[in-house]
Amino acid sequence: MTSIVWITGASSGIGRALALRLAREGRRVVASARNATALEALAAEAGPNLSTLPLDITDAAACEAAVAWIEAEIGPVALAVLNAGTHLPTPAAKLAVAPFRKLVETNLMGTVNALVPALAAMRARKTGAIAVVASVAGYGGLPTAAAYGATKAALINMCEALKPECDALGVKLQLVDPGFVRTPLTDRNPFPMPFLMELDDAVDALVAGLAADRFEIVFPRRFAFLLKFLNMLPYGLYFRLVRRGTGA
Ligand SMILES: NC(=O)c1ccc[n+]([C@@H]2O[C@H](COP(=O)([O-])OP(=O)(O)OC[C@H]3O[C@@H](n4cnc5c(N)ncnc54)[C@H](OP(=O)(O)O)[C@@H]3O)[C@@H](O)[C@H]2O)c1
Repeated sequence: MTSIVWITGASSGIGRALALRLAREGRRVVASARNATALEALAAEAGPNLSTLPLDITDAAACEAAVAWIEAEIGPVALAVLNAGTHLPTPAAKLAVAPFRKLVETNLMGTVNALVPALAAMRARKTGAIAVVASVAGYGGLPTAAAYGATKAALINMCEALKPECDALGVKLQLVDPGFVRTPLTDRNPFPMPFLMELDDAVDALVAGLAADRFEIVFPRRFAFLLKFLNMLPYGLYFRLVRRGTGA
């Protein structure tokens, strides 16, 4: 049987491009997102290897039902790519509660809602793989990304916590930390994005990373290493370089 891949956030950007790529490579793909019309357009482009499953990841019961539906109607999920997420800027000068709540509900709790039933199904079989899409913005705080960065830092920490236990359960857990990739999400950014990567190149790196055994998949690598290094510096130097780099 062709192994089944479930991708959340597949109506746009990285998730859509990954779904298309994997379906064209012969994987059996189930594509989820809220926008059913966009998913239908994806299905028309991808052909018979791709099924659509509209889903709002902020609804935990719907996520549980989605995994149950895939397992019953399509087959066992071999790989779940938990990619759905969004960004809202949270500048200190206009700090508000609502964007924090929205990003925590979507990026953190939405991912958890999908992770729990996916892991339960794989745990029962002692096999499967899960990739959680976080961001290099989770490595350390960056101006205007207080809420986004906090949710992505939480995902990174969550995956680090779960990795050894998932290994013992026979489930491969991977963390995906992209830098800037040109998608509808980053098209909204009003600032110049360092090391901006084209979507096709990002999907090349993601597909290669998913096939490998390493825990963290990062792209573009130079930007990720630069940020990792930045986050090892004493705070005085860190904030000086962040101010210089972002103009904050
Ligand atoms: N692009 C980058 O530079 C970059 C960098 C680092 C990390 N990331 C992460 O990569 C992931 C994909 O980003 P992208 O750039 O491809 O963004 P995008 O083009 O805006 O796509 C985001 C996807 O998430 C889905 N989504 C959002 N809220 C959802 C919800 N409540 N339920 C289900 N699906 C939902 C959207 O579909 P619907 O609106 O149809 O629901 C869409 O398919 C995100 O987690 C993002 O944080 C991106």
